[in-house]
Amino acid sequence: MKATILYYSHKGRTAGYAREMAMYLWSKGISVSLSSISDFDQSKLKQTDFLLLGCWTCGWFILRQHPHSRWKEFTHTFSGTFPIDKILFFTTYKIRSGSMFDNMKRAMEISISTPVTQLKSRTGRLTENDKSLLDRYIGIV
Ligand SMILES: Cc1cc2nc3c(=O)[nH]c(=O)nc-3n(C[C@H](O)[C@H](O)[C@H](O)COP(=O)(O)O)c2cc1C
Repeated sequence: MKATILYYSHKGRTAGYAREMAMYLWSKGISVSLSSISDFDQSKLKQTDFLLLGCWTCGWFILRQHPHSRWKEFTHTFSGTFPIDKILFFTTYKIRSGSMFDNMKRAMEISISTPVTQLKSRTGRLTENDKSLLDRYIGIV
């Protein structure tokens, strides 16, 4: 099984969170490709079973959270080409992630009512809860 983790990070916290996810998935025997959205070669998407897409939370801190326009432009280019149940969204934030995940769905033309696995963190550290959620996502439990 192969997972591709793609992130957009400004100050490094989202990149760190992505790295911890990558190490955890490796420890479960999954082959992982980790890269920032600016370094990614889209042809690699064809060989992946799981697609984890992350961006830092952008907004007015209390209201209007959304992914950065660069993340939206990037993910829009392959929206509709990957099975939704194999997609996971993740973000890091300071106060409130609010409408972040709904706006990630909108950017990828996924209906708001469609469930997509989601992970969020203030610290960028992978918690035991996050690990359990990753286990369910990859189908271990
Ligand atoms: C312009 C700007 C807007 C932000 N808006 C929000 C927000 O609406 N809600 C929130 O909780 N954090 C907000 N943050 C904080 C970042 O989402 C948070 O620090 C994040 O972990 C940064 O990730 P990075 O280190 O990968 O860049 C904002 C930060 C910036 C610079």
